[in-house]
Amino acid sequence: MSVAPEITRLEACGVVPVVVIDDAEIAVPLAEALLAGGIDVIEITLRRPAAMAALEIVAKRVPGILPVAGTVVTPAQAAAVHDAGARAVVSPGFTESVDEAMRRTGLPWLPGVATASDCMRAVGAGRATCKFFPAEQAGGVGALKALSGPFPQLRFCPTGGVSLANLGNYLALPQVICVGGSWLVPADAVKDRAWAQVTRLSREARARVAELRG
Ligand code: 3PG
Repeated sequence: MSVAPEITRLEACGVVPVVVIDDAEIAVPLAEALLAGGIDVIEITLRRPAAMAALEIVAKRVPGILPVAGTVVTPAQAAAVHDAGARAVVSPGFTESVDEAMRRTGLPWLPGVATASDCMRAVGAGRATCKFFPAEQAGGVGALKALSGPFPQLRFCPTGGVSLANLGNYLALPQVICVGGSWLVPADAVKDRAWAQVTRLSREARARVAELRG
């Protein structure tokens, strides 16, 4: 199966910042701060009412960054993020109804998996790239290696408890294309509009990915 260009973008970046946004107005400076640090993808999670507007603004006004919708848990949200301009979608889990809705959008979708049964559903639906969530809490690198035994065809973006300190353990696995995490965009930095901090954390993460990949 061919790999969608958006998935290739996630893989090239290596790190997907998971963003919780309360105010759509700050979406542009936040996305620009990530870009300034070399991170050209952003996952905007649908955890706050402002998320959909933030996604739409980033998709329209920050062409250099790949807008990804996160925390998509219903078919209606799948359709809405497509209309808002998302270019890829991440969910914390897998359901048949969201799988079907995602198929209608035509967008690449990373369903969340944490168990062998989840992986069976994802494979049965023809999904090739999954979010491994919550990565650290679900057993970390050891669990992911074990899941890859019966599911060698799956590729993963581990997210949940991932940080600069442990991302190398995940990226060392051939089945891991990138990691996700909120550490690049701390809640306090967003509250204080501390964009230089976001850029610094982004630069640090990209440097680590580059170092790991040689
Ligand atoms: C997610 O939804 O992907 C996670 O909540 C992010 O986990 P983290 O905050 O531990 O990075």
